[in-house]
Formats: sequence, C-alpha cells, structure tokens
Amino acid sequence: MRPCVPGYTPRPAWAKVRPRKQARCFCLHLSIARWRVPMLDLPSLPQWQALAAHAKTLEGTPMRDLFAADPQRFERFHLRLEDLVLDYAKNRLTEETRRLLVDLARATGVEARRDAMVAGEPINTTEGRAVLHVALRDPTDTPIRVDGHDVKPDIRAVKARLAAFTAAVHEGRWTGATGQRLTDVVNIGIGGSDLGPVMVVEALKPYARPDLRVHFVSNVDATHIATTLAGLNPATTLFLVASKTFTTQETLTNAHTARAWIVEALGEAAVRHHFAALSTNAAAVAAFGIDPEAMFGFWDWVGGRYSLWSAIGLPIALAVGFDNFQALLDGAHALDQHFCTAPLEENMPVLLALLGVWYTGFHGARAHAVLPYDQSLHRLPAYLQQADMESNGKSVTLDGRPVTWATGPVLFGEPGTNGQHSFYQLIHQGTHLIPCDFLAPAHSFHPLGRHHAILLSNVLAQAEALMRGRTEAEARAELEARGLSGAALESLLPHIVFPGNRPSNTLLFRQLDPRTLGMIIALYEHKIHVQATIWGINAYDQWGVELGKRLAGAILPELEDSSRPLAHDASTNALIALIRAFRA
Ligand code: F6P
Repeated sequence: MRPCVPGYTPRPAWAKVRPRKQARCFCLHLSIARWRVPMLDLPSLPQWQALAAHAKTLEGTPMRDLFAADPQRFERFHLRLEDLVLDYAKNRLTEETRRLLVDLARATGVEARRDAMVAGEPINTTEGRAVLHVALRDPTDTPIRVDGHDVKPDIRAVKARLAAFTAAVHEGRWTGATGQRLTDVVNIGIGGSDLGPVMVVEALKPYARPDLRVHFVSNVDATHIATTLAGLNPATTLFLVASKTFTTQETLTNAHTARAWIVEALGEAAVRHHFAALSTNAAAVAAFGIDPEAMFGFWDWVGGRYSLWSAIGLPIALAVGFDNFQALLDGAHALDQHFCTAPLEENMPVLLALLGVWYTGFHGARAHAVLPYDQSLHRLPAYLQQADMESNGKSVTLDGRPVTWATGPVLFGEPGTNGQHSFYQLIHQGTHLIPCDFLAPAHSFHPLGRHHAILLSNVLAQAEALMRGRTEAEARAELEARGLSGAALESLLPHIVFPGNRPSNTLLFRQLDPRTLGMIIALYEHKIHVQATIWGINAYDQWGVELGKRLAGAILPELEDSSRPLAHDASTNALIALIRAFRA
C-alpha cells in the first residue's frame, strides 16, 4: 500500500502526471485514484491580474468604436477551418486582449492538459479515468494507450460490428421475429445516451433514409414511451437500449416497458430480435436478455456526454447510414487536429473558451446563449446544456478547494428566429450581459422562395444590433423623423435606447452536412475542455447529479407504500402526504 502523495505540484502539471500504477493511492481505504493536480489560484496569477487591469482600460471603448477605428477588424478577428468560419470580431476585445487571454491559457497549462487528454492520461482525476472521445474519431493506427493497452484495435472492432449491424438492418437481413423488415428504431436512453444522438439525427434529417424511422424515448414519464409506442408495430420495431452503465433508472424502466410490449405481442423469444444494447455493462445487458451479437460496447474512458462518437452513435448510423456517420466522425477529427496543432492565437476552440472566460471572469457574465439559425439544429442548445453545464457546473478545483471565480455559465438557446420573439429582449436591453453564439448555414436544404435570405438577414441583423446598439442621439433622430417632439419624445426616448456593446460570435458554414456538424460538435467539446483547464476544474465527472438520484431511491417506496413513515423535511413530507392523498 502506497502512502498518499501530497497532491500538489507547480503548474502546468499535466505533462508530469505519473503513470497510473504508481499514482494510485490507497490511504483511508479509498480506491479512488488520486493524481497530482495543479494547485490553482486564478486571481493570484499575474496573467489574471493583467486581464483585470486591461478590462478596466477597455471599459470606455465600445465595440462600435473599435469597428470604426479599424476597417480590418474582421480580418484580425476571424478564423476559418475548411467551410467553418468563426467571426469573433463582435467581442469586447483588441489584439492586446487576445494576447493577454492567450497568456492566461499558457499559464494555466492549456496545451499540456490538451496533450495529456489526447495521449490517454487519466485526466478525469476524481474517477481515475482517461478522457478519449478523440480516439473514437481518429482514423489512424497510431496507438493510444490506456494502462498500457492500445485502445485503437478495440475501437476499430466495435466500429466494424456497428457498420455490419447497420448494413444488416438497412438491407433487411436483420429482421423482426416474424421475419418482417424493420421500419422503426426506438433509442431508449437519457442524458448523454440520448441528447447527442437525437440532436444529430434531427440535424441530419436531409440525409435520413426514408425506409427507417428513428425515435427517441428518454423521459421516465410514461407519456414519452406510451405516445411513441402508440404509432408503432411491434413486429417491425427495433429497440436500442443505450446506457453506459445499464443501471440508469429511467432507461431501464422504459426498456422493461418496451420489453413487455414486445413479449406481449410476439412472445419471449422475440426479445433477441427486437433489442440491441449500447453499453459498457455486458453482464447487465445479458441479464436483460439481449443477444451478445446485438450488444455494442464502449469503455469507461468515453464520458456519457461525449459518447455520440461511440456505439451510442448507432441510432445516427441507422438513421442516416454508416457513411454519413463516418463523415460526422471525420469532421470531428479534422477539428481535433486543428485543436492539437493550431497556435493558441489561431485555435478556434481555445479562442471560444477564452472569450467565455473573459466574460465570466471580467464582465460578470453568468449566462451564455447558443442561437442556431437553422431549424435542423433545434436540439443543439439542449445537447450543449448537458455537454457544457454537466461538465463545467463545478465549484471545487481539481485539488479539492472551493473556487473563488465563476465557472461554467448557464447555457440556453433556441433556434432563430423563434428566440427573437421570445427572450432576445433581455439580451438586448436587460441588465444581464449574455454573450451569444450565432450559428448559420449559407445554404438551406429547403431552398424555398426567400425563406433562407430572410433567415440570414435576421441572424446578421441581431449580431449587428447587439454590437452597435442605438445611441440616444440616434434614437432621438429616429423619433423626430417619426414626427415626435417635446414631452412625448422625451418620455419614449429612454426606452428605445439600446446600450449595445453586447458580444457575440458567429459561426458561419456552407451547409449543415455531416462533416460540418462533426466539426461544430467537436469545437464545443474542446471549448468546454479548455475552459475547465483554465478554471482548474474537472469537466469529466458529475457528482452533483448523484444525490438527487439517491434521494429519489428513498422516496419511491414511500410513494408506493402509504404506510411508510416519513422522515424528510417538513416541505417534502407534506408534498409526499399530498401526493398520497391525491392518488388515494
Ligand atoms: O445524469 C447523469 C448521467 O450519468 C449522465 O452523465 C449520463 O449521460 C446519463 O446519466 C445517462 O447515463 P447512462 O448512459 O449510464 O444511462
């Protein structure tokens, strides 16, 4: 048994992380691996202080003045990777700001931690795991070792099985128990086992096969599965039970309901024809009665919210074909290569991350809006809510101390133009600073009349309006032009002044094809990773969701058995008593 290693080394420490066997610590009988982690006190870093001073100097210079002073501002503040363009000119920054932000990235070890991640180091320190979703989309044979084991052959083997299964379903070789061709696939999963695949399947609808419908059931609310099954034929329906752990209550409850539905219609022997599993838990999958031939595995180094590239992506492959799934992976890999090789100053995910740190750290921003002007991306904000907030919703540093700086913001969004008629008012004139990401394709898959030009004119106008605002002088001139004057004009005037100087990024791309979508998702994944590095937190655990699960486990029997005594707080006790009364 090794004694505990005192946990701190000077930053950046990732390059010096010890190999797994040496670093495992068994003191206090804990088997959780402890790794040397950097001690971080962001506000005391000279780079942080330089940014704080710099933020003050920029206070009196709104973005519209920066644009007026520099016709080359777009040239200076945009990046392009293939057909994906990031315009970050409409931010409160100068070249000096960027230089100082990049200094902060270097000081906090962004490059070293990125390299540690892609090398398979166990950077998820609280769970003692590597974080290797990048390996899932790396087409090369270059080994990546976890505990000395090259993961690449395992990835290739599962991918080959996924491709074969996809082809068998598409070609009608994998049929239902009665021999009928499958017409519907229902993915049963939640969180990372749902949000990524459903977002991608929605986004790639133009690529969908017409002969196979893919549905998603996530909520344990029976409404979800009941309404989904209502339109389906058991003989032609395949269920994918997607759960990394295969223990998630919602997923298993839905899976058992689906199983009962199949058994009732087709008999017990039909289960192996109508169920496949996407999981790391082979024993639980077998216990459920799923044919090992229809179980597709992955590994603990694939985080749930980073798992759509693994077997969890099977509903995507079934919906749009394996070639398109591969194109998605290839797009993500292209972005990975950019992330790993581009200088920090020209690195898209690094710059997106730094801008986020700039606004949370030095401008009090506590929210971030993602606004896709593409109806196909209507689930992107929901997907990113989990990716970002479950990753960076943390308040303890890697070395276990409370942070004294803001970490991940509240992320929300809606497709444009719907959001414009909903919450944009607050972004334009409210008291919160909410940086926005606008996403827009130059081409629509549905080139109907003027629709797309109108859509694009709106996304450009919103970003421009947020940046420019409307000064009092401009507002006054507008009101005068409308014929107002005197008290009527003066009373309306303050309401139609827009402060402006509200930051946004615009991600413009040619069209939402699978490759571009893969790039966009990987871009956000790496943004989240970089921010976690700078904030000194672990993006790859989610202990905060555990407590509620445990308490629900205690409450469930109390709802099912009214004679059980209640020992919660007064509010919870009263609510349980009311539910019992309403259900009696
Ligand atoms: O909500 C917690 C969580 O563990 C997520 O991180 C995960 O994506 C989700 O539950 C589903 O987990 P599983 O894939 O194991 O069913």
